[in-house]
Amino acid sequence: MTTLPFDTIFPGDCLEVLAQLPENSVDLVFADPPYNLQLSQELWRPNRTRVAAVEDGWDKFASFEEYDHFTRLWLSACHRVLKDTGTLWVIGTYHNIYRVGAILQELGFWILNDVVWLKTNPMPNFRGVRFTNAHETLIWAQKIKGAKYTFNHHAMKSLNDDLQMRSDWTLPLCTGKERLRVDGAKVHSTQKPEALLYRVLLSSTNPGDVVLDPFFGSGTTGAVARKLGRHFIGIERDETYIKIAQERIAAVEPAPEAAVNLRELRRQPRVPFGALLEAGLLQPGERLYFVKNESIIATILANGQLQCDSLTGSIHAVAKSLFDGAPANGWECWLYEKDGQMLVINTLRQIIQSEKA
Ligand SMILES: C[S@@+](CC[C@H](N)C(=O)[O-])C[C@H]1O[C@@H](n2cnc3c(N)ncnc32)[C@H](O)[C@@H]1O
Repeated sequence: MTTLPFDTIFPGDCLEVLAQLPENSVDLVFADPPYNLQLSQELWRPNRTRVAAVEDGWDKFASFEEYDHFTRLWLSACHRVLKDTGTLWVIGTYHNIYRVGAILQELGFWILNDVVWLKTNPMPNFRGVRFTNAHETLIWAQKIKGAKYTFNHHAMKSLNDDLQMRSDWTLPLCTGKERLRVDGAKVHSTQKPEALLYRVLLSSTNPGDVVLDPFFGSGTTGAVARKLGRHFIGIERDETYIKIAQERIAAVEPAPEAAVNLRELRRQPRVPFGALLEAGLLQPGERLYFVKNESIIATILANGQLQCDSLTGSIHAVAKSLFDGAPANGWECWLYEKDGQMLVINTLRQIIQSEKA
């Protein structure tokens, strides 16, 4: 194969399929490999219902040596198909992640972060013999130490309410409507939450990039890739999962290009609210109306702050307080009056941006 077939799920063993893919061709690998959970006995809840644990054949290995051998093979194969600027994510638990981490270092990958996914709703330790196992670990590594790679710092910061995104991510397990079921039964025992992949893909790829998932399962990576305007290549050896993943991905509505092309947005010159006063587009003392309730009125101060009853602060800060602390983009939250019409102040920012561009 010399060119990559985008947005395809390859059936079969990942080692065989990876060997067919061209080298230096994918921007990102996300891998959710077998964890080798080594469960030796059934798990029961105190009310005598059986816990649906991961008992699938694909998760079973005869020994650590066999698991390590398999891990070395698929990681080397991913190393070959990754671009030199590419990065790789692997998710796992204490059962496997230390082994995976050591092997990927041996193979020359350079670890950039380990991220802890803290589960808000973990399964308890029913027998009460250990701590509740409430997290999984993701290792993020680059193919070549020191090479250029994608990290969308600003996107992550915005996603985190303007604070730098940390390496502990608190997210729920995949439950409710998102969990794929047939006749009430889960279709995949380890379906990952889309929120996790959203963060992975938004942080380390750009629109149009190619994401390879060699253990595709129910297609979570593909669904989020499609939503965010990224391409995917999946590999999965179970035909039932492939069919489910195909249907799932086909039902995803991709976000409009303008909404995911953040590099383009960032290229827009930054405009402080005060620039609207300096340009005479708004005047000190003029009134702005809160978008959710136009009876809430703020006065523009000469320094570019707003005063709204006892609140004084930036357009963002006052809006945030009015939204009870929820993140708010002030440019979308305030209206001004022009010729009897209420218009959002972002239209004035766009005038300045187009003059600067
Ligand atoms: C941990 S699950 C991945 C779940 C997936 N992230 C999701 O959200 O649905 C691992 C998947 O890899 C598949 N698998 C295991 N070994 C494989 C191999 N050698 N080649 C291809 N697929 C494999 C299994 O069938 C299983 O669906």
